[in-house]
Amino acid sequence: MRRLRESGSYSGRRIGFVPTMGALHEGHLSLIRAARHENDVVVVSVYVNPLQFNDQQDLAAYPRDLQRDIDLAESAGADVVFAPNSVEMYPEGFKTAVQVDALSEPMEGQSRGPAHFRGVTTVVAKLFNVVQPTNAYFGQKDFQQGVIVARMIRDLNFPIHLHMCPTVREADGLAMSSRNARLTPADRKLAIGLYRALQASSDAVRRGEYASAALRRVATNVLRSFGIEPEYVAVASTRTLEPLAEITDEAVIALAAKVGEVRLIDNMVVYRPH
Ligand code: PAJ
Repeated sequence: MRRLRESGSYSGRRIGFVPTMGALHEGHLSLIRAARHENDVVVVSVYVNPLQFNDQQDLAAYPRDLQRDIDLAESAGADVVFAPNSVEMYPEGFKTAVQVDALSEPMEGQSRGPAHFRGVTTVVAKLFNVVQPTNAYFGQKDFQQGVIVARMIRDLNFPIHLHMCPTVREADGLAMSSRNARLTPADRKLAIGLYRALQASSDAVRRGEYASAALRRVATNVLRSFGIEPEYVAVASTRTLEPLAEITDEAVIALAAKVGEVRLIDNMVVYRPH
């Protein structure tokens, strides 16, 4: 990858970078297309990063099909698929971690433990150093991850512009995710509860409800009507990710829940008009 990066056809060009864990779907492809649009060269990485998995079963069950990913990435406009293995990424003696404090603690940090985002920022920092992109593309689907990577870029002076792209959804509203494939047909139907819960709470915001407790109750009740018990429903600042008692200007409503055996997350950004 480094040799390619330093070769004549890459140096001095705008490099767009889309880091992924593979099992590519329309959500990933939308990022690749955005990168294609705004860069001379598009690099997609495919690496299931063991450092960020708190659940070894989840890691083992993560779908892997590199040839399919290469074909899909190419069809969306990728020039390079960088797919390192774990010996290359974490050779024996690997000891360094990158951690973004505070932002990594609430929501997904609380649910999945502090190692999760430390694993994400460590691998993303490595990938940034190897690929040296001009622009990097992340999905709003993982809102907290995007905010954390943006802070890492600022704090560690990576000369990279981060683009947070909209969440791509199935026709019924379910956010696309590599994990959706593991839902049973019955659970797949229930899984739209997450989207419905977010819709109901953001509708409430539009009607003038700005109290977090009320908004969380709305979302929780919708989830329960689908037989889903949330791991968390958070109403948080889009900048600091701290929980808000009341929405004053902009907030993210984020939730996580297990539907059957599969853990899903989703979020929506809401606004309070002045
Ligand atoms: P992965 O879950 O494969 O996601 C790769 C990128 O695709 C992330 O930026 C994610 O937010 C985005 N994405 C996933 N589903 C999406 C959807 N429905 N709409 C829009 N974008 C979507 O996130 C990771 O991998 C890893 O943590 C990674 C950053 C690669 C580090 O290992």
